Amino acid sequence: MKVKKADPLQSKWYKTKLLLQSGFIKRYIPDTRRFSRSNLEQMIYSYGMIYVKPERGTYGNGVIRAERGERGGFTYQYEETVRQFDTFEAFHKSLAKKAGRRRYLIQKGIHLLKHNSRRFDIRVMVQVSPKGAWEATGIIGRLGHPRKIVTNYHSGGKPMAIEALLQSHLSPHRLARLTEELNTLGVRMAAHMQKTYPKIHQIGVDVGLDRSLIPWIIEVNMMPDPYIFNQLKDKSMYKKVMRYRRVQLKKKQ
Ligand SMILES: Nc1ncnc2c1ncn2[C@@H]1O[C@H](COP(=O)(O)OP(=O)(O)O)[C@@H](O)[C@H]1O
Ligand SMILES: [Mg+2]
Repeated sequence: MKVKKADPLQSKWYKTKLLLQSGFIKRYIPDTRRFSRSNLEQMIYSYGMIYVKPERGTYGNGVIRAERGERGGFTYQYEETVRQFDTFEAFHKSLAKKAGRRRYLIQKGIHLLKHNSRRFDIRVMVQVSPKGAWEATGIIGRLGHPRKIVTNYHSGGKPMAIEALLQSHLSPHRLARLTEELNTLGVRMAAHMQKTYPKIHQIGVDVGLDRSLIPWIIEVNMMPDPYIFNQLKDKSMYKKVMRYRRVQLKKKQ
């Protein structure tokens, strides 16, 4: 019988370790560790806010945001449920129970920028061009549902032009520079990953901007949804993403 091996590129832990091998990319990766009692304790006390998420999750499923309470104590939220705990013991026990047998990661929480009191992050699409070079082909913001802690489209997030989300946070000149930085980062990530995985032809990078507008890599997706770009009024990015995709799909045949 043939046993199908689990794809390492589905593991956020494996992908994080791969990206950490590059000094250029490493600076953009928030502290990420495997879920354990001691990592939870160290990280919640050092950072005050953390994200706890399944090692092999998608669509924002199972993602938890945990914080230290103002008067001691701890809280965490998943979907639209908030839970409070007086002691670290109770907090850890509840999270461990929630994770169950699934592997979870803990990541330093990024205080994402907001637009109309809703958090947003950025998706950068990177594809191999018809000429065979890595190129950033699309960039889009994802505005989270007001009551949720994730920005994913499948969890009620709204895809929006980055200009609309960022115009109150930075000047057009600084936005152009930031876009350039994210495009370069995306291309460097794809090229780095391709050294180990020669067959990849696309990645989608989730980038969080903190309150100082510093970009952080939240995760990298190997099968990014091209259709979110169709949500924009301006169809130029969508058309390019789909054109590059068609060329790659044809080559695979
Ligand atoms: N460290 C973090 N800081 C802030 N927000 C985060 C963090 N990790 C995840 N999120 C939020 O949760 C969403 C889903 O997390 P992600 O790691 O991308 O998992 P998934 O594979 O389910 O998309 C992100 O798009 C972001 O909105
Ligand atoms: Mg994601």
